[in-house]
Amino acid sequence: MNSILQIDERNLQVTTEPGVITEVLQNAVKEKGLFYPPDPSSRGSCFIGGNIAENSGGPKAVKYGVVKDYVLNLEVVLPTGEIIWTGANVLKNSTGYNLTQLIVGSEGTLGIVTKIVLKLLPFPKYDLLMLVPFNDLEKAGEAVSAIFRAGFTPSALELVEIDALKIVSKMVDSTAVPVTDDIAAHLIIEVDGNHQDTLMAEMEAIGELLTQFDCGEIFFADDAQQKAELWKLRRRVAEAVKLDGYTIEEDTVVPRAELPALIHGVKELGTKYDFKAVCYGHAGDGNLHIRIKKEGSIYSLNNPDVIPALKALFELVKSLGGTISGEHGIGLIQKEYMDIVFTETNLKLMKGIKKIFDPNNILNSGKIFD
Ligand code: LAC
Ligand code: ZN
Repeated sequence: MNSILQIDERNLQVTTEPGVITEVLQNAVKEKGLFYPPDPSSRGSCFIGGNIAENSGGPKAVKYGVVKDYVLNLEVVLPTGEIIWTGANVLKNSTGYNLTQLIVGSEGTLGIVTKIVLKLLPFPKYDLLMLVPFNDLEKAGEAVSAIFRAGFTPSALELVEIDALKIVSKMVDSTAVPVTDDIAAHLIIEVDGNHQDTLMAEMEAIGELLTQFDCGEIFFADDAQQKAELWKLRRRVAEAVKLDGYTIEEDTVVPRAELPALIHGVKELGTKYDFKAVCYGHAGDGNLHIRIKKEGSIYSLNNPDVIPALKALFELVKSLGGTISGEHGIGLIQKEYMDIVFTETNLKLMKGIKKIFDPNNILNSGKIFD
């Protein structure tokens, strides 16, 4: 199921099978001047069907939204063997319950997606990228919401804590970003659009604003190669920190302005529960990947060493108005934390939906909840 079935240039839509690699689909529509924005870090290897199962995000989500915002219609094989289309190939649909969006993010527990209709956009002509160092991690977090409050919507606004940058730079053998002792974190900021001059002016204005947050000297990526190098470093952080012994990747998400409180809280929990934490991710969305390293602890799904710390982390996230997973889903690892963010009633409704779709519990059973 790895064919792109039709690129509909008249309607800016693509119909694809689920086994197409996300980047392959992006490149195919780009050849026609079209844009499919959701770009998880793994886009070179992940499948579009998997992205639908997770409702994946990625750096562009901050301006363009996540996978759910592009899925118009799905062909789904139900566990009963019946085949349905969930909606229609239209941009607006207010016809009954939204089965399309129920399938998106359902982690393969409700049905098997066999065809996908996605909305596309015209490909923006230009993008500019800058890297901004900060002396203080929480200040970097504060700067994030200030950018939006000042009226800017970057096409990416990522945060990388310095330890993550050091580890990934070593792994890919890159000296693209100089690392000095006074730097605590970087923001990677991209703007895109069709008018180069407007973008230049926006970048300058954002840079000016950031001086209020103790930032260091801003580095502008001059050409495609420099941009690619920065994105390579960002996209490979997860892999690098895992190899370095950081165990579990969390996918917490809070309202954007609560980011400094989340960062502060994580470091406090690290002291209390004796773990080292490294933060990176989609700061513009308030979606922070937090990774924990506890000496002597091995990677495991339900490591008793880290469960109390993770529970405390999710309680903190909830108290800030956030939730457990922004873009990775629940799967097996996080299901035991679902009751932190959901009431019995919420969980009963979800389990009821699962029963209606899959009365014999044959699809991905044990994922999301037991
Ligand atoms: C990232 C993936 C792991 O942001 O979500 O790198
Ligand atoms: Zn991510």
